[in-house]
Order: sequence, then C-alpha cells, then structure tokens
Amino acid sequence: MSIKNTQKIEASFKNDVHQGLTSFPKYLYSKYIYDKKGDKLFQDIMNLPEYYLTNCEFDILSLHATEIAELFSNIQTGFDLIELGAGDGKKTKVILSHLTENNFDYVYKPIDISQNAIDSLTNNLAEELPQVTVDGETGTYFEVLERLQKYNARKKVLMVLGSNIGNLLHPQAIDFLTKLKDIMSSEDLLFMGFDQKKHPQTILDAYNDTTGVTAAFNKNLLHRINSELEGDFNVDNFKHWEVYDPESGTAKSFLVATEAMEVSVKAIDLHINFDAWETIHTEISQKYDDKTVQWLADSAGLTIETSFEDEKGYYKDYVFRRK
Ligand code: AVJ
Repeated sequence: MSIKNTQKIEASFKNDVHQGLTSFPKYLYSKYIYDKKGDKLFQDIMNLPEYYLTNCEFDILSLHATEIAELFSNIQTGFDLIELGAGDGKKTKVILSHLTENNFDYVYKPIDISQNAIDSLTNNLAEELPQVTVDGETGTYFEVLERLQKYNARKKVLMVLGSNIGNLLHPQAIDFLTKLKDIMSSEDLLFMGFDQKKHPQTILDAYNDTTGVTAAFNKNLLHRINSELEGDFNVDNFKHWEVYDPESGTAKSFLVATEAMEVSVKAIDLHINFDAWETIHTEISQKYDDKTVQWLADSAGLTIETSFEDEKGYYKDYVFRRK
C-alpha cells in the first residue's frame, strides 16, 4: 500500500474512533476489527462449528459449480471474475478449480483491503492452481469500484461472498449495490451471498461461540485502539454481547462495560467515562429473506436472475443483472 493511502486510513481510524466514543450511545465500526490479528481471528471464526455461514456457502458452490460456471462464461470473449473482499479465497477456490479444469477462459481479480490477504492468496494460488491467471488489487470497495469504471472490455462477473453485505444497514446496502450496478454492463453479473433468517438460536450461537473466539474478535477493536492510538482500555472490563431481532433480521454485537471506568486514548487526546453496563455497539450482521433481497435489488436497479441455496436453507447466493 502507498504511504499516502496508509496515512489516509490512519486518519479515518482516528476520526472514527473519536466520533464513535464521544457519541451517545457509543459505537465503533466493525471494519476496524481487521488488522493482522483480526484477520486471523476471523479465519478462526470461519472454522468454528457454530459459524455455519462458511460451510453453507462452500456446499452451495461445490454442489452447483457446473451451473455457476456456465452462467459466468462467455465463449467468445472469456470473462473477468472480480471478487470483492476475497480474504483467503477458500470458498472461491471451489469455483476456480472447476473453471480451470474445464478450460474456461477467464482472469481472476481478487480485491481486498488487506495487502497481506492478497499476497498470500496470490502465492497460494500459484502453488495450488498454477493455471489460473491472478491479478489482485488492494483497496477499499469504494476505491476499487472507482478504478473498475474502466473495466469493461469484456464480460465481467462481480462476486461478493460470505454475506459481507450483512455489515451494512439497508440504506448503505442499497448504496453499495447501486454502485456495483453502475459499473455493470448489460451482460455482466453480480454473484452475492446473503445469510438467511433462521432459528434465532442458531444465529445467536454463530455470533457467541462457546470457545470465545468471536468475543476475542470483537474485543480486538479495543486492543487496536490501545496499540495504535495509545489507548488504555482494560479489555477485561468489557463483555462481548450478542442480540438478534428476528423481526428485522439484525444481529448486533456489543461490548458492555462491566464496571464504571475512565479511559484515555492519548493519540487523539480523548478522555471518556463509562458507566457500569454502558455499551459500545460494534457490528451488525444482517440476515435476509427473498422479499428483502428482492426489495434491495429493485431499489438498486438490479434484477435477480437466479439463486442457489444450501440443503438446510440457511444461506443463499443470488445472481443479479442490471435492470
Ligand atoms: C465477515 C461480515 C460476514 O458478520 O458474519 C463473524 C463477520 N462477525 N463473526 C459476519 C463476523 C462476527 C462476518 N462477516
């Protein structure tokens, strides 16, 4: 990453932490969970038995690889497969190996905010699937979408797996989908995963595992503030707490102060007080149903071409086209 870029990210981290901790009620953005330690903790989450999302999507991609590959392909020109938030590519590899074994003509363009993630994915693919042409890029979704404006020489398939859209409130999700639509031509596709509404206990368990990995993931926000912004949070004075509203389909994560305390964050000259049982809201993980996805698509100028679900109906991947 360029120095300018790094500085920009540091400045917004400072501003956002200041904003969030001086607001009432307090909040922090979940995107800041993902430093090196946060990336690792999220990988651990994906391996938890309670975190069904990864396995469900893995099953969907494995089961429907042939049909999905047919949808993606363009016999005349080939296509570009652009993945936003590629991470470790574990699920994507199912599709890549199918495409490659069947000699589809395509380039794989993984995009992630973490340079670390792109480097290891690129190296890993060179070993495991050396025939795949990989052209990775680092940046936020927004920056990369700007750059992709010009990316229209041939068919492209935009892919967002893992229900990553679930971190966005509906108005932000519509905004994100609209921006994706704006860079799509009429033959392009958007392939996106949406975790579905289900038994509320199943969802609560996925975000409150018994081994405490999700709690550590959530608390990484405070560790990051301590190490990068000279904070003095006593992280043990906070409890990870998860709620799920089955009506709205919103799972919310909090850090709850178990006692009154004062906290300083030196690098932003901040001194704040917590009352006992005061909260910091840290993340939403939205759950969906067909009607809601249909409404989001309509609002963004997209149509749903088809969808794929796992056996239990826990999770769905939808294929969208420009309206
Ligand atoms: C990466 C946003 C899809 O919300 O399910 C996992 C992040 N947070 N456990 C999700 C997460 C707590 C995850 N996403």
